[in-house]
Amino acid sequence: MKIINVVGARPNFMKIAPIQREMTKYDHLQPFLVHTGQHYDEKMSKLFFQDLELPQPDAYLGVGSGTHAEQTARIMVEFEKVLDQQKADLIIVVGDVNSTAACSLVASKKGVKVAHVEAGLRSFDRTMPEEINRIVTDALSDYLFVSEKSGLENLRKEGIPEHKIFFTGNVMIDSLVYYLNKADKSSILSDLRLDGYPYALITLHRPSNVDQKESYQRLLDAFSKIQERIKIIFPIHPRSRKMLNQFGFQHHIDSLKNLILIDPIGYLDFIKLMSEAALVLTDSGGIQEETTYLGIPCLTMRENTERPVTVDIGTNFLVGSDPHKIVTETNKILIHGSKPSQVPELWDGHTAERIVSIILGNVQ
Ligand code: UD1
Repeated sequence: MKIINVVGARPNFMKIAPIQREMTKYDHLQPFLVHTGQHYDEKMSKLFFQDLELPQPDAYLGVGSGTHAEQTARIMVEFEKVLDQQKADLIIVVGDVNSTAACSLVASKKGVKVAHVEAGLRSFDRTMPEEINRIVTDALSDYLFVSEKSGLENLRKEGIPEHKIFFTGNVMIDSLVYYLNKADKSSILSDLRLDGYPYALITLHRPSNVDQKESYQRLLDAFSKIQERIKIIFPIHPRSRKMLNQFGFQHHIDSLKNLILIDPIGYLDFIKLMSEAALVLTDSGGIQEETTYLGIPCLTMRENTERPVTVDIGTNFLVGSDPHKIVTETNKILIHGSKPSQVPELWDGHTAERIVSIILGNVQ
């Protein structure tokens, strides 16, 4: 059985890695790895292939950056050529990036079956490009692998037939479980001279937070207050770096003596930094889940989340973008620590096994 596994952007790599690895256990499965090149910087891509022991992609589409239409269109044109050559039985797409939706659209129109891993998540906020990608991909998919219970409800309400939906758990947690010990040996804490010191870890890249000067400034105001109490490590995403330069914020950043801005870091170093942090402030999707698994307090700088289980039973708390609220909630965590939390159902490191076994039993 020929299966095309698709990756494009940083948050895809840790989701495909366990699936790709699981498939190599079966002689009659031939995984073919396609990297669209949506993320192309060494630190956004190559480093992750190394850390996650992913094989070199069988096809690299090199699409790069652009407007949403440009990027999506380039992925579609290039992916169609691969699909024509490979005669695959199934493509597997993960997450909610432009590569996910673009490749699903191409495959479904060519009559190639589509499996979506991390199906059913909804923020109900269509100003997020990822929400559009999730809706489109789920509508086109033949196999919908769901990571948390809210996803089941969402898909049922949208009328997706029951036989297409499978509650298999969170594949990104497979990677976390698999690499936790190795990550523990990372030297990132001593490299950053953090050994034994408490610190907050920040990630930020959503267009709604960094593409407008005022919103970005408000968040920097909050970070400015927080770094008076605790050291902040901020591995900065290329988008946020670009906007920071464009808005002329470098001077402000330089004046914050306790805020350490660093380049994006690899998977193992990031897991180590996250698992030792006093708290994490983020607008990412996946980090809300990883902190819940690790029991690390997480403040999400968004008004909504497509991953409600992390708020309901995990360590996550939505703080939006109001600097006062961000600072107040940070202080509460610094004083009282994390709220009580649980690891959601089937976030157990075995999701890829369940997914591959369902594929083996269902795809002809
Ligand atoms: C993409 C995903 C987002 C995901 C994020 C993780 C979409 C719609 N968005 O957002 O869901 O959370 O990845 O990082 O698919 N850039 C570089 N080097 C790179 C990649 C990007 O410099 O390797 C810069 C470019 O200037 C580019 C900008 O970052 O224009 C944004 O990249 P893009 O892939 O469009 O979206 P992300 O913000 O990374």
